Amino acid sequence: MSALLQIENLRVTFKSSGLFRKTAPFVAVDDVSLRIEPGQTLGLVGESGSGKTTVARSVLRLVRPESGSIKFQGTEVTEFGRVPKWYRSKVQAIFQDPTASLNPSWTVRDIVAEPLRVHEAKMNSGAIEARVAELLQLVGLDPALDHQRPAAFSGGQRQRIGIARALATEPELIVCDEPVSALDVSTQSTIVNLLNRVQRETGVAYLFIGHDLGLMRHMSDRLAVMYHGKLVEEGPAEQVYQDPQNDYTRLLLDAAPSYDPAEQRRKREIRRALAATAN
Ligand SMILES: Nc1ncnc2c1ncn2[C@@H]1O[C@H](COP(=O)(O)OP(=O)(O)O)[C@@H](O)[C@H]1O
Ligand SMILES: [Mg+2]
Repeated sequence: MSALLQIENLRVTFKSSGLFRKTAPFVAVDDVSLRIEPGQTLGLVGESGSGKTTVARSVLRLVRPESGSIKFQGTEVTEFGRVPKWYRSKVQAIFQDPTASLNPSWTVRDIVAEPLRVHEAKMNSGAIEARVAELLQLVGLDPALDHQRPAAFSGGQRQRIGIARALATEPELIVCDEPVSALDVSTQSTIVNLLNRVQRETGVAYLFIGHDLGLMRHMSDRLAVMYHGKLVEEGPAEQVYQDPQNDYTRLLLDAAPSYDPAEQRRKREIRRALAATAN
């Protein structure tokens, strides 16, 4: 299978803010290689500051990598001068805070219709309205509420609005940067289930960033683990979860809260194993 997205040896640095002397640039992402197949989910995990968002922003071309390659359907993304419209329509994003990413003064209808107005010049207003209703239905929102503004909705419903907007242009890939981390636990699972169903129905692929390995396991085909800008583990989701090869992955698993007795037992075993290697 040819990859939908192929990242090779990605390196992203930021200028350090040494005021009086030159300091070495800060390496946020170092030699990261990842691939995503069409219609699949790559889960990217790692603690805060490990470089996950910087990978996401590189794919969205919001930051320019220092070196490495990002190919989308074979096209080199890092060489774009200005990001072409076709790329914006095929690669969409949803973010952690739907409140911040939805214009509070717009109606739901306008928010979801915006990408259609930008990318589908040939769509008339009737067709746009029909498509908005279809999208709202797809994400489990009542199209009759499309005249409401974001403030009228709960956090989970707002994330549904963000998902509907991301789906409007029928993207091949959605970069999901911690889309459920700000939601309460029960809402998290409904949004994850929604994203899974949307994937089955539309064939969209996800780069799904999160820090809860237990949750990511259920929605990812493959899992990649980042630590201090580097990739420390990558493999089939179940394998990474059940049989992590890297000590850091084990620690991440250990840190995820769990109420499942089997999982708690497994964590105790990992803790014991780590203690044994430390001796
Ligand atoms: N625009 C920026 N300028 C300087 N440093 C940045 C910038 N963006 C991210 N960083 C730094 O890069 C590192 C990785 O950040 P980030 O990719 O946001 O990690 P994560 O999403 O895993 O929490 C952090 O140390 C962060 O402070
Ligand atoms: Mg982040």
